[in-house]
Amino acid sequence: MTKRVALITGGMGGIGTDIIRDLAKAGRVVASTYASFEKDNIPAWTAGLKKEGIDCTLAECDVSNFDSCVKAVKELEDKLGPIDILVNCAGITKDSSLKKMEAAAWNAVINVNLNSIFNMTKQVFSGMVDRGFGRIIHISSMNGRRGMFGQANYAATKSGMGGFSMSIALEGAKKNVTSNTVCPGYTATAMMKTIPEKVMQGILAQIPAGRMAEPAEIARVVTFLADDNAGFINGTNIDVNGAQYTSY
Ligand code: CAA
Repeated sequence: MTKRVALITGGMGGIGTDIIRDLAKAGRVVASTYASFEKDNIPAWTAGLKKEGIDCTLAECDVSNFDSCVKAVKELEDKLGPIDILVNCAGITKDSSLKKMEAAAWNAVINVNLNSIFNMTKQVFSGMVDRGFGRIIHISSMNGRRGMFGQANYAATKSGMGGFSMSIALEGAKKNVTSNTVCPGYTATAMMKTIPEKVMQGILAQIPAGRMAEPAEIARVVTFLADDNAGFINGTNIDVNGAQYTSY
């Protein structure tokens, strides 16, 4: 199997960790960025993966800051070689209705969720094109496809990802560089803890599958899109939402 290096942003998060697991099990060399506030979790997180035989190389990075992304990608590529697979997974929520939303909550979510995908993809895209191979996967959201009360900022970033992804798909297609989004529905991670209990009960009642997604179910789709044989799947989206938002 050809050696492929996969970089996941937000890899220490709920969905990100399972993406690392799944890609590693598929034989990929795995690397992740982490934010400074995650530093204290590194020893336990790394030890957990080591027990499963997974060695993930980490680099500190503020994905909302272009220069920080330049530095982190260089550091990782010096250690591991060129990045072949990029998974833009880092993301935050700062939910509130528009009438209450402060500019700070708008800007923080735009910076971390949307500006990050430019900051990171820019570091690896030209190299992928030059080498004739690349797989770029953006973790978007069901709520970016349908909108959500209290998520004008988050939903704007997630649908923005779609426009970005489709555009660079066109730019990379001739050189076997693909770009696709995955849109998870509600997924059992720490992010759900920000939702008030009463609201959460209402959300669960609306999921036809009767449950949230497991992070591993999102990760399977990422590994599928990252495959060497997935070169003709480009500029599209895969929904993973238990039939909560259906489209064709
Ligand atoms: N539809 C209609 N009305 C709603 C509503 C909804 N979905 N959610 C709340 N409301 C109503 C409330 O019942 C309340 O009504 P009353 O004033 O009559 O009591 C009113 O709206 C509250 O309005 P506020 O302006 O006070 O709202 P707020 O600024 O306090 O925001 C909220 C409330 C933060 C949006 C809260 O409802 C919430 O957390 N909702 C969940 C949002 C959500 O689903 N986030 C997803 C996070 S996970 C994720 O994003 C991952 C992913 O990709 C899927």
